[in-house]
Amino acid sequence: MADRPVALVTGASSGIGLAFATELASTGHDLVLVARDVARLEALAKELEGAHSAESEVLFADLTDELAVHRVQERLADRERPVDLLVNNAGFGTMGRFADLPLERELQEISCNVLALVRCTHAALGGMVERGRGGVINVASIAAYQPTPLNATYGATKAYVSSFSQALHEELKGTGVKCMVCCPGFTRTEFQKRAGIDSVDVPDFLWQNAEQVAVIALRDYERGRAVCVPGPLNAATAAFTSFFPSGVTRRVAGLVLRRAEH
Ligand SMILES: NC(=O)c1ccc[n+]([C@@H]2O[C@H](COP(=O)([O-])OP(=O)(O)OC[C@H]3O[C@@H](n4cnc5c(N)ncnc54)[C@H](OP(=O)(O)O)[C@@H]3O)[C@@H](O)[C@H]2O)c1
Repeated sequence: MADRPVALVTGASSGIGLAFATELASTGHDLVLVARDVARLEALAKELEGAHSAESEVLFADLTDELAVHRVQERLADRERPVDLLVNNAGFGTMGRFADLPLERELQEISCNVLALVRCTHAALGGMVERGRGGVINVASIAAYQPTPLNATYGATKAYVSSFSQALHEELKGTGVKCMVCCPGFTRTEFQKRAGIDSVDVPDFLWQNAEQVAVIALRDYERGRAVCVPGPLNAATAAFTSFFPSGVTRRVAGLVLRRAEH
């Protein structure tokens, strides 16, 4: 992996993470692929080698498990095998009234969506700042823009990721290291099924595919953007929710998400 830049992508076994890995391989990166489904990661590694001559390391990690996250941190902090781009993409959502949801799953959601992301970002940034290059893309969501009733923990984790990443973007100015938050809208992946919201009645024109999200995010990252909201409709939604007070936007979000509940 000496000559090609290396990108570590969490949640590379499906959806947006898989699209990031594929796009990065096609633009000359080697990969470190992180997730729990090793069989899928190994199949992807083979595919990326065949299609793009990319070398991939497969790193099994359940990012709700602190010890497993520690292994990813060690890989990111390895000065002998520097990682040039960290894509903190792994994440999941839970749907329902918070009081009715199992607390353990909510805490795991915070562990995966927030704590693992913070640990991995910290592990990566030390070496990147020393080298004066590299960067981090953190995948949040347009759910970051307002409280999300019936998706309360998820929206809160993504609001954290957005605020945290934008703060780092400013802190890192002048270091040669970048940080960007990517806030996708409805994207056709396994996310909805895993969250139990596959019946959601969302019109076709609101959907993007994972490849579109990854391509736009990587383009905006190259441009040094702090925030990427892929697609004009998502950008308009984000602008709308930023403009109105949270008393309005949380009610609108409540109405939309209640439809998805049934
Ligand atoms: N799809 C959307 O509409 C949408 C919209 C906005 C934001 N997002 C965000 O986009 C990111 C990617 O989601 P996606 O849409 O691509 O969904 P997805 O197809 O379900 O992919 C999620 C990825 O995260 C990994 N993952 C989940 N839990 C994990 C854990 N405990 N440890 C390690 N890896 C874990 C999964 O791998 P394994 O199961 O193999 O571990 C999988 O590779 C998430 O952060 C999500 O919040 C999605």
